Order: sequence, then C-alpha cells, then structure tokens
Amino acid sequence: SLKIVIIGGGSSYTPEILEGLIQRQSTFPVTEIVLVDVEAGKEKVDTICQLGKRMVEEAKVNITLTWTLDRRSALQGADFVSTQIRVGGLTARAHDERIPLKHGLIGQETNGAGGIMKAFRTIPVLMEVAKEMNELCPNAWMINFTNPAGMVTEALLNHSDHKKIIGVCNIPFNMRHSTAELLQVPPEEVLIQFIGLNHFVFGDKIFVGGEDRTEEVFQKLLQKEFDYSPANIMPLEWSETFMKSTKLLPNPYHQYYFQSETVLKKDLKAYEENGTRAEVVQELEESLFELYKQESLRNKPKELEQRGGAFYSQVACSLMDSIYNNKEDIQTVNTWNHGTIPDLPYDAVIEANCVITKNGPKPISIGGIPAPMRGMIQNMKAMEELVIKASISGDYQDAYNAFLVNPLIQDEKKAKKVLDELLEAHKAYLPQF
Ligand code: G6P
Ligand code: MN
Repeated sequence: SLKIVIIGGGSSYTPEILEGLIQRQSTFPVTEIVLVDVEAGKEKVDTICQLGKRMVEEAKVNITLTWTLDRRSALQGADFVSTQIRVGGLTARAHDERIPLKHGLIGQETNGAGGIMKAFRTIPVLMEVAKEMNELCPNAWMINFTNPAGMVTEALLNHSDHKKIIGVCNIPFNMRHSTAELLQVPPEEVLIQFIGLNHFVFGDKIFVGGEDRTEEVFQKLLQKEFDYSPANIMPLEWSETFMKSTKLLPNPYHQYYFQSETVLKKDLKAYEENGTRAEVVQELEESLFELYKQESLRNKPKELEQRGGAFYSQVACSLMDSIYNNKEDIQTVNTWNHGTIPDLPYDAVIEANCVITKNGPKPISIGGIPAPMRGMIQNMKAMEELVIKASISGDYQDAYNAFLVNPLIQDEKKAKKVLDELLEAHKAYLPQF
C-alpha cells in the first residue's frame, strides 16, 4: 500500500495533485489518499473529495479517497505528506499585501513585510505537523509547498525532530519547461544551473544535452520571445544591460528587488482597479468551487491554470515518484546546503538542483555565488534566519530585526510602523507573539 496525506486538502489547487497522482499509477501506485483540513475548510474539502472521487472513477484506478479534520489519525501509516496550508486564509493574505502598500512598501505574499508575516503565522503550525509526523509516521517524507517555502523548510529541518522534509516551488519547474518550449527540446534535456534561495533563485548557465545555450536563451528573453511568469506576477522586461552584466537568468520574483519602483507603481494601480492578488484569488476560488460542485465535472478544469501555482503537482508528483523509485534524476528543490554553496551557512536551506534518491535530495554544487549577487543572496539568507528565529521565539525585537534587514523594508521607522500594524491585524494567528 502507498498512502498520501494532503494537509490543506480543501485548497482549490488540490484537483491538480489528485490528477498527478492518478496519472502516475503505473510507476507510483498510490492506494490511499487522505485530505486533511480544518473546521473552516470543511465544506471545501468535502467538495474536493467528491470531485476527486469522480476523477478516480473516470480514470478507472484503484485509489481510496477520503477526508478528515483529524490530522493525527490521517498521519498514521502515511508514506508521503504534502503540506499546502494557508494560515488565516486569503483574508490574512490581503492584509499582507495591503498594509505594506499603505506605507509605500511592496505588498506581496512571500516577499517583503507580507512574506515575513506569512512565515510568522505558518511556521508554528507546520512545526506541529512535523512533530506529529515524527511520532506517527517517522518514515514519511513531507513535501512542503506552504509559503514562504524556503524559510518554512529551513525552520522545520533545523528546529523539528523530523528530518525528512523537502521544500518545493513551481518557479524552477516553469523556467525549465518554458526554456524547453522555447528551444523546442524535451524538458528532460534542459538543465538550468540554479543558484540561490526559494523565490530568490537565479539561473546560472543553461545546458541542453550538455551544450551551453545560455547566450541564446538570454537573447530570446531580451527579444521577448518567451516569458515564464506565473499568473500572479505581471511580466516585466529585463534590460540588456542587466542580462549582460550579471550574466544571470532572473526569476519572476526578482522584479520586486531590482525593479522596485516600477512594481510598486504597477501594484498600486492594479490594487486600485482589481483589488489585491488575494482579492482576485478569492473571486477565482469562488468560481472554481462552483465548477467543482458540478457533477458533470470529472477532471481537473482548465480554469485552474489561472492560479500562480499551476503545475505545482507535477513538481510534487515527480519528486515523490523519484524518491519511491530511487530514480536519481535531477530536480530543483529546497534542502540543506551542507556545503553546496560555500558562501552560505552550512545548515541553511537553499533551492538547488539535486539528485533525487530514495534517501532524499542530494544537492549538486556549482561552486560559489557569482560575485554580482553574492551579497544580495547572503543578505536574504541572513534575513530568513532572523525571520525563523522570530517565528519561534515570538520576540518583538527578533521580528523587528527581520523587518529592518529585509531589502524591501529597510527604513527603520517604517519597519516599526508596518510591523506593529501587521502584528495587530494578524493577532488571532500569532499566539507566539
Ligand atoms: C507562484 C509561486 C507560488 C505561489 C503562487 C501564487 O507560482 O511559486 O509559491 O503560491 O505563485 O499564486 P496565486 O494564484 O495564489 O496568486
Ligand atoms: Mn513558489
């Protein structure tokens, strides 16, 4: 038997991972899936479960699908646990996006003040899940999608007893697959040498079947022949000077750091016109659930691609498949540095290309961080460490330090103002403070 538990099973994203698991039956023969959610997500998780059952029927596979609010009973005997929760829901996300913006700072769910607050709300909850896993299913792997995925993974690896934890994101996957499409080659042949942190990862060199095609990809990016932005990020152009000088392929989130003024203006306008991304997603979710409720729907609907995390399930399923089958293929995940990037602390979590084995991911070293971004990445990591510390301690000064060194905040007086306002707005979800 092969049992998968999905924590946050009521998420509108779940049909994706269900589809992925159904399609992989021949190599990854899942027999049981349990969706777990909290009281507030009861109705949603029930809807997802019913849709899931229709998908299973349609595919004529043998998978038992159930849902429960009892996480502990679900974890018994689990082989893989995927975590995709949103503490405080989209209402909390809207605060993360709106409050910083009110003070002239970028408001984003995983970057700047908003991203820090999301970590404060999330880390304690997932620490609890890790603790339960260590007790109830010590051999199970946690595949963590919950944002901020890099920081969450580092917090759990370094502060919980459960060590089988891997952080994942669809950004490196999107970059690899768009590059493959652009060069009209199969994605398995494309190797982007990633270096950095989750949502702050760069592509160093791009190889296709061993041949260095970096120059060509940069050219096409400049000529706007391709774009790998997810649905939640407005595609912005990169200048030729940026590409030629840094010689690095930025990820879509880098615009928050290197095109801050433009992004701030665009966000202000977008928020005025359509609300924050949280509010847009709220509406999208409502229409998705309307769809999910229709008996005639027996597959993952196309409409789900409007979410920024579209295709995340391919990342999750390939990863579980490779661990299960000891495939030793290369995938980009968040795991312990352990010397892979000598410029970062040994116990830091990095986003890196890894060989995926039955004993977990083994990161591949490509040496140090290229000089132009060394300081930035080290600073981001130092900031992440402060965030993790504060998430656990609940200490105001720890939290302030994290705000202060975040490159999207920095201003000492604004740091206090925004922190105070966010702590107040989120107080129901921050028992540690
Ligand atoms: C990207 C990121 C995910 C994030 C998602 C947001 O894909 O990699 O980490 O959760 O976008 O998408 P949403 O539709 O919720 O704005
Ligand atoms: Mn991500």
